[in-house]
Amino acid sequence: MCGIVGYIGDGNGARRIIIDGLKRLEYRGYDSAGIALAADGRLAVEKSVGRIANLEALLASSPIDSHAGIGHTRWATHGAPSRENAHPHTNGDGSIAIVHNGIIENYAELKEMLIAKHGVSFRSETDSEVAAHLIGLFYEGDLFAAVNRAARELRGAYSICAMAAAEPDRIVAIRKDAPLIAGLGENCNFLASDIPALLKYARTIYLIENNETVLITRNEISIFNERAERVKRDVFHVTWDADAAEKGGYDHFMRKEIFEQPAGVAETLNRRLDENGGIRLDGISLTKRDLERIERIYIVACGTASHAGLAGKFAIERFARIPTEVDIASEFRYREPYINDRTLFICISQSGETLDTLAALREAKSRGARVLSVVNVVGSSVARESDDVFYTWAGPEIAVASTKAFTTQLICMYLLALYMGRTLGTLPDGEYERVLSELRQMPDRLSALLEDEPKLREIAKKIYKNERVFFIGRGNDVGVALEGSLKLKEISYIHSFAIAAGELKHGTIALIEQDSLVIALATQDRLFEKLLSNIEEVKARGARVIGLAKAGNREIEKQSDEVIYIPACADEVTPILAVVPLQLLAYHVAKLRGCDIDKPKNLAKAVTVE
Ligand code: G6P
Repeated sequence: MCGIVGYIGDGNGARRIIIDGLKRLEYRGYDSAGIALAADGRLAVEKSVGRIANLEALLASSPIDSHAGIGHTRWATHGAPSRENAHPHTNGDGSIAIVHNGIIENYAELKEMLIAKHGVSFRSETDSEVAAHLIGLFYEGDLFAAVNRAARELRGAYSICAMAAAEPDRIVAIRKDAPLIAGLGENCNFLASDIPALLKYARTIYLIENNETVLITRNEISIFNERAERVKRDVFHVTWDADAAEKGGYDHFMRKEIFEQPAGVAETLNRRLDENGGIRLDGISLTKRDLERIERIYIVACGTASHAGLAGKFAIERFARIPTEVDIASEFRYREPYINDRTLFICISQSGETLDTLAALREAKSRGARVLSVVNVVGSSVARESDDVFYTWAGPEIAVASTKAFTTQLICMYLLALYMGRTLGTLPDGEYERVLSELRQMPDRLSALLEDEPKLREIAKKIYKNERVFFIGRGNDVGVALEGSLKLKEISYIHSFAIAAGELKHGTIALIEQDSLVIALATQDRLFEKLLSNIEEVKARGARVIGLAKAGNREIEKQSDEVIYIPACADEVTPILAVVPLQLLAYHVAKLRGCDIDKPKNLAKAVTVE
């Protein structure tokens, strides 16, 4: 949540570069934005409510530019989106400005102390403003020292970038449990929450660790540990194409990312298949002995990633015969789960920065579990704190609604499960080969499936005015139903609900009435007839049904008003395909409803607050 950018370079131009960087971080929050520029011995601050475009419009009439500045795009936690609550925040005389991502948990007591002891008057309702005043209080001509001193008072999660009017040639940033990177440009340097912000200008970056402070000048990036000792850090070269973080002709990032799935899935597979087509888990040490010791697996994640976990559970239990539970991170960490050194904890996260997931990981680790993570963002906190990392190769995912991260997470989970089953000897060779061959065909099948977009657009036209939708499925379809429902509600604001079809009659069917819309997933051959009976149950109460089945299973046409087919494939791997029409359907419904697809209201891509 929230995006921060810092830039320092030659001559003027900071304003454009910071605004440009903020636009690329809008996925992190977009309810207000602001900028502070070092100009003529002072810090010029401009803020506005709404998108970065509003800030840009506001700045259009201002002559102020600079060689250095900091910027922020906000996702409100403390205080409504307003000009006053937007960052940067400054100290009393405006000589210090800060931007902050995260939550300062003890802000109330700090605020009280600053008011009582120092007569500070606050201008916003944010937790962040205390950081500006504290830094101001400790400032004696050395911003680096003041930021470090102030951080000693702060509890919570934060990345803070600070500037001092008296030191226009340096920006200081500090990180604790909120992402921060520094980028090396040509005669300029950057700070940011995430790589896309600076991709246009810098491809060599430093990943800043927790409790580190960074000092950037035009020519240098210096990183220090808690004891203010200089730290040597290897650079990280960004290999993505700059276009990967651009819309590239698509209307929305979400649609682009849906269409990138064949490539992302192919890349994720290729990275893990050897020349003989077997699975290689380089860098992940899971020997037969390790696996035999595992008594239980927890898969823990949030949102879409937790739905990928459900398919992972099915696959691991089926192929490797290890009891596996899926839990959402925000619950897992508070329910005293049964964990010991024979527990394998798998966490799945696109961003690798979701605070609840990270906290659950730490909880599991502290109780002796071994941690393996499935992550998309290289070098993210989850990746760094895990014993082993299985990267998804989806490329940058910008749209808030996750699509290609999900399908690539599924690939990782299947590969892991197959590998475990084969290593443990619980999966016969023939079965292993059969499922692996199914996975290898996925890029082509996904490409074929995406050609059905026009049909889904037509279905969207028929249903987009519905205010309520039910998704039902059984077995492997339950997780996909949850994901399809999440996609629809998050971008179209339609009230959608997903439930295991067999559970309908235990309550939810009471809501089915004439013309209720039910999307029935029936991709599981084993459960096909059972699902047809569930469709009968809702039809009998007047529901309109959109069925989703494998090509060839035409029986479903008799009970459904519309049918969406996915290419025929094995039951075990249907989620990889079945989710795609649901993503496209959600996309087109949201588009017809005039919604802001890439930036749905109240949401953010990386949830770095609890
Ligand atoms: C947010 C995003 C979701 C995402 C979830 C978990 O809610 O809007 O799309 O699935 O966080 O994010 P992660 O980065 O941990 O996968």
